[in-house]
Parts: sequence; structure tokens; C-alpha cells
Amino acid sequence: MKPLLFILLLMPFLVIVEQAMAEQNIATLRSAEIAVEPEAPRLGNEENKDIKRKRNYPMQPPTIPHKTANYRIDLNSNKCLACHSRRQVDESQAPMVSVTHYMDRDGNFLAEVSPRRYFCNQCHVPQGDVKPLVENTFQDVDAILDNKNKK
Ligand code: HEC
Ligand code: HEC
Repeated sequence: MKPLLFILLLMPFLVIVEQAMAEQNIATLRSAEIAVEPEAPRLGNEENKDIKRKRNYPMQPPTIPHKTANYRIDLNSNKCLACHSRRQVDESQAPMVSVTHYMDRDGNFLAEVSPRRYFCNQCHVPQGDVKPLVENTFQDVDAILDNKNKK
């Protein structure tokens, strides 16, 4: 085989190897190689001001304005529902989970909170007063509309 032809045939393979090596250098938030298990960072101090925060868009799951560190959610118990379910809000004075939490995926209303909404912190998260890890250029839709009207 001619050496030139050989190199040409090898080229696609070299590109793949190069890409795979570059992937090792991808900047990740875990600051460690893929195969390394870094020590988890310590939990921060959750904000506990009990003041509702603004939602960034109407469908946003509201962030949690209170501490949740000891609130267990597992097969047998859900501490969040002990305050937020329909049955409990008169006693707890917590806002009831919205009606969407009682709907199955076909839009039927159930008697209990839907299994799809059982693990609350899949969507609702407490907040900490910390420096953001990454830059965020999110713009509120009101700001976008304001800018548009000015033009
Ligand atoms: C001891 C009762 C209690 C428990 C347990 C509890 N909450 Fe709350 N929650 C409240 C109350 C009361 C409020 C209203 C604001 C405040 O007082 O903090 C609230 C507010 C919220 C809000 C804000 C709602 C809004 O409209 O902005 C979210 C979200 C929330 N809780 C989620 C949770 C989740 C998720 C859990 C479980 C990890 C949980 N809560 C456990 C009492 C509770
Ligand atoms: C799959 C995502 C998801 C899960 C899981 C979930 N929520 Fe929500 N939650 C939302 C979204 C989105 C909203 C805002 C839109 C709406 O009301 O549906 C919301 C709204 C709320 C509100 C505000 C209700 C109001 O009318 O102001 C409370 C309180 C709440 N959720 C508590 C909970 C609790 C407690 C759990 C666990 C039992 C839970 N959520 C599970 C997505 C979720």
C-alpha cells in the first residue's frame, strides 16, 4: 500500500481518538475526571426566611422558602405532605400543593397527590445565599417585552 493512501485511510480514526482525548478535558462542575469519585461538598446553609420568592415564569415550581434538611420522603412517609397536602393545610397554614399535583398524566383528577408529584424535591429546591457556580443570562419575559416596546 502506498504510504499516502495509508495515512488517508487512518485519518477518520485519528479524529475520533483526538475527540475522545479532548472529552477528558471538558470543564465540569464536579472538577474531577470522569472515572474519579470526588468527595461531596458539604451541604450549605439553606435560606429560612419564610418569604415567597418571585417565580421567573408562570410554570416555574416555586422555590422552597424554608429549611428542608430533616424532611424525609420515602416509600412510607412524605414529610412535605404532612403540611402541604389538602388534608393538612388548615392545621399547618402552608399553601396547598396546586391542583396539578392531583392530576395523572391524562389530566384526570385523583383523590391523592399523584405519584408523579410525590418526590417534591425533584422540582422544588431550597435556596442558599451563595455565589453562583456558572454565569446566568436569564431574562424575565417582562424585561424582554419592555426592551421590545422601547425599540
Ligand atoms: C412544618 C410544615 C411544613 C413542612 C413539613 C414543609 N413545608 Fe413547605 N411551606 C410551609 C409553609 C408554612 C410555607 C409558607 C411560607 C413559609 O412560611 O415558609 C411553605 C412554603 C413552601 C413553598 C413555597 C410555595 C410558594 O408558593 O412560593 C414550597 C415550594 C414548599 N413549601 C415546599 C415544601 C417541600 C418540598 C417540603 C418537603 C421537603 C416542605 N415544603 C415541607 C410549611 C411546611
Ligand atoms: C414534577 C415537578 C413537581 C413535583 C414532583 C412537585 N411539584 Fe409542586 N409545583 C410544580 C410546579 C411546576 C408548580 C407551579 C405550577 C403549578 O401550580 O402546577 C408547583 C407548585 C407548587 C406549590 C404552590 C402552589 C400554589 O398554588 O401556590 C406548592 C406549595 C408545591 N408545588 C408543593 C409541592 C410538594 C409539597 C410536592 C411533593 C409532594 C410537590 N410540590 C411536587 C412542580 C412539581
